[in-house]
Amino acid sequence: IRVAVVFGGRSSEHAISCVTAGAVMAAIDRDRYEVVPIGIARDGRWVLPPADLRLVIEDGRLPEVTGSGGVLALPFDPDSRGLLVVEQGTVPERLGDVDVVLPLLHGPYGEDGTLQGLLDLAGVRYVGAGVLASAVGMDKEFMKLLWQARGLPVGPYVVVGDREWRRERKRKIDEIKELGLASGRAVFVKPARAGSSMGISRVTDETDLDAAVEQAREHDPKVIVEAAVEGREIECGVLQGVDDGPAEASLPAEVLMAGGHDFYDFETKYLDGTTSMAIPPDLPPAAIEEIRRIAVQAFDALDCEGLARVDFFLTPDGRWILNEINTMPGFTPASAFPQMWAATGLDYPALVDRLIQTALR
Ligand code: DAL
Ligand code: MG
Repeated sequence: IRVAVVFGGRSSEHAISCVTAGAVMAAIDRDRYEVVPIGIARDGRWVLPPADLRLVIEDGRLPEVTGSGGVLALPFDPDSRGLLVVEQGTVPERLGDVDVVLPLLHGPYGEDGTLQGLLDLAGVRYVGAGVLASAVGMDKEFMKLLWQARGLPVGPYVVVGDREWRRERKRKIDEIKELGLASGRAVFVKPARAGSSMGISRVTDETDLDAAVEQAREHDPKVIVEAAVEGREIECGVLQGVDDGPAEASLPAEVLMAGGHDFYDFETKYLDGTTSMAIPPDLPPAAIEEIRRIAVQAFDALDCEGLARVDFFLTPDGRWILNEINTMPGFTPASAFPQMWAATGLDYPALVDRLIQTALR
């Protein structure tokens, strides 16, 4: 079985995708699967990555797919359902048929339905969510709208569209103040479509709002501002069921930060080693069961397939609030998703195997 592992990509989460792919490729059972690595450079070119590419974070340095070989790829061969890579200015070199694609991409142009649409067009099977679920799962406005429509709990938020910010800034700032900023409560300013905490700021003072929105807008012209929830941060992994069974949730994890950071930002997530996970969290069994149930509902509400990680807050008064979903959650050795499944009885290689097998069905 030939598995194309696609990684890197155009989004700001390029490096995290590389680390994810490095770990997944190291864990794939090579007796059963032939791995075809395909890198997408930051400029969008598809390249066959050099064999010695190091897909790890070393001394704080992030890995990157470089397009130095000048390889240009057509992502599919319409005649044969295979993937095709073309050296610029040369005769196409067939990669051969691919049975399944592992799109290990985070963020826009990878986790947002665009790549998924391309693979649908090509008739190639792939791991994870389809076009709609990927697109909705990437967009913090629409994921909340769908969850709300299904009666699932989300926190207060304000969407700041591109035009609104340029033309109606004063009105938008007033709306944001209503979220709690006026009474001294913090808000989170986020790009609507990004990940790994890229472009996110925690704002407690109105005078910092402008800069925070501009920073988020560097990632996405649409910005979402959320009332900060001062609660515990809990995550839960979900997998598509086996043999038409219902989706399954892992044991949840609680993100424990050592301090020194305002929130679970990029540094804390990947670089400084100050975070740890409690799996399962210190919670009564009924609460653990409730979070697993809501995680599956959140997965189903968006029509997800394959896998997702659902992130929650637990408020001090015991309410669950859905923060977000990731349809291609981080899979680095430090990531919660594989750790939660390992604690649930599915170790890393078994998890990768299950994802591939689900996609092949
Ligand atoms: N967006 C990152 C990779 C995550 O959710 O794990
Ligand atoms: Mg995310």
